[in-house]
Amino acid sequence: MRLKRTSDEAAAKRAEPKSLDELNAQIASAAPLVPGATRAVLGEGPVGAAIALVGEQPGDQEDRQGRPFVGPAGLLLDRALTEAGLDRHEVYVTNAVKHFKFQQRGKRRIHQKPTAGEVRHYRWWLDRELQLVHPGVVVALGATAVLALAGKPLSIARFRGRADFNGRRGFITVHPSYLLRLPDRTAKEEACRAFVGDLRSVRRLAGRIVPSPVH
Ligand code: URA
Repeated sequence: MRLKRTSDEAAAKRAEPKSLDELNAQIASAAPLVPGATRAVLGEGPVGAAIALVGEQPGDQEDRQGRPFVGPAGLLLDRALTEAGLDRHEVYVTNAVKHFKFQQRGKRRIHQKPTAGEVRHYRWWLDRELQLVHPGVVVALGATAVLALAGKPLSIARFRGRADFNGRRGFITVHPSYLLRLPDRTAKEEACRAFVGDLRSVRRLAGRIVPSPVH
């Protein structure tokens, strides 16, 4: 499965955004592919950030609050960034897919993985977003982000580390939700350490020493 560069009629008709605000207005007014989401969750962080982190799609909390990575996976991510000496406010954080897809089970909204078609649908926007933010390194957090950025699926176990996303300097690592799901405590601690190690490598790759936050 390789994602075609989007040639959807809809994408062809979209006006090229001249700024991130313009792009965000387009994304915010687009209907979700799968109905249910409260809103589009937009990327967050400074234009020109040295590092951009790309996740999969907003989760329940992100959909409610309208911000990326503010739920349990976001908390883990924030801790790992701090341990790696990175300040979340200096990093651009976004998702491959901009709307939460879920299955309602009683009161709970259970996350559903986006299909390759859904990833392709949002790819045009992600590409423009990264053009406008212009980060030094783009980090794919997990398989969906890899698919969106590389345009084809790549095994994380095999390709973890530095990557080239069609001319963009990239880095492949795991998704923080994967770490949350690991049932064995020792394995989880080890995997979290490896994740922090990846973020340290990203920090070095970005070639910018971001001061560690004061504790
Ligand atoms: N998982 C993601 O991939 N993105 C979020 O914003 C939250 C959880």
